[in-house]
Amino acid sequence: MSEKHPIGVFDSGYGGLTILREIHRSLPQYDYLYLGDNARAPYGVRSMETVYRFTLEAVTSLFNAGCNLVILACNTASAKALRSIQQNDLPKIWEADGNPNKRVLGVIIPSVERIGSVTRNGHVGILATQGTVTSGSYTIETQKIYPHLQVSAEACPMWVPLVEYGEADSPGADFFIEQHITRLLEKDPEIDTILLGCTHYPLLIDKIRKYVPEGINVVAQGEIVARSLADYLQRHPEIEAGISRGGETEYLTTESAWKFCDAAASFMKEPLDAKQITL
Ligand code: DGL
Repeated sequence: MSEKHPIGVFDSGYGGLTILREIHRSLPQYDYLYLGDNARAPYGVRSMETVYRFTLEAVTSLFNAGCNLVILACNTASAKALRSIQQNDLPKIWEADGNPNKRVLGVIIPSVERIGSVTRNGHVGILATQGTVTSGSYTIETQKIYPHLQVSAEACPMWVPLVEYGEADSPGADFFIEQHITRLLEKDPEIDTILLGCTHYPLLIDKIRKYVPEGINVVAQGEIVARSLADYLQRHPEIEAGISRGGETEYLTTESAWKFCDAAASFMKEPLDAKQITL
């Protein structure tokens, strides 16, 4: 294949890097194109219409850049925009492009499938953005697969800004992290498994572990999504055939490129280049 057809990985900001890192580890043979809408993050406090509009703009931009497969590595976008894009927009895009093998996948269903197999006592906690929690997506999807599970969710509106504004390691971050973990465990003191239902939260993992009592599993989504993608590509050779195998990763951001490179390189543990785009 001469042209590049990377797997697009989209997030409102830096959070999707926690997914990209794990996907990249298990499927290093493919090309990837990461897009962080850092200029408009956080998405978690925005309305359904706005998250849908921003997400569709990002997906369109990744398709235009050559991606045939886009992962919404953002729970808020998966909760508020994925279904509309899959049902209403993709068919129009297929028709316009004459390519019915373009796909957009999210992170919520694979995560739900996993938590049901990790919990021992059936009491699960979800930490996520305001948007994801109020959408009810985790509770609804869990009910479908594991109706016996008791799911409690806590919105953590300050956590994404802590990451996006470079305050993840500051002493002030401890206050908000402890506050939401305490509130979640007050909702259900029997919780034995907590899902980090926002891809930014693994960037706060050291502090999260500090306040989660021992014996409670803390589950991040990177490895879950990576496994689910590998499985998906195996089951869909027609989609796999549309991905180029150059082993290269490129980064796009809607904020300034140098800012993105600094923060992203320290997390990905390798120097990287980014290009600023507008959506
Ligand atoms: N990483 C996004 C998620 O998983 C964060 C959303 C935001 O920008 O608030 O929900």
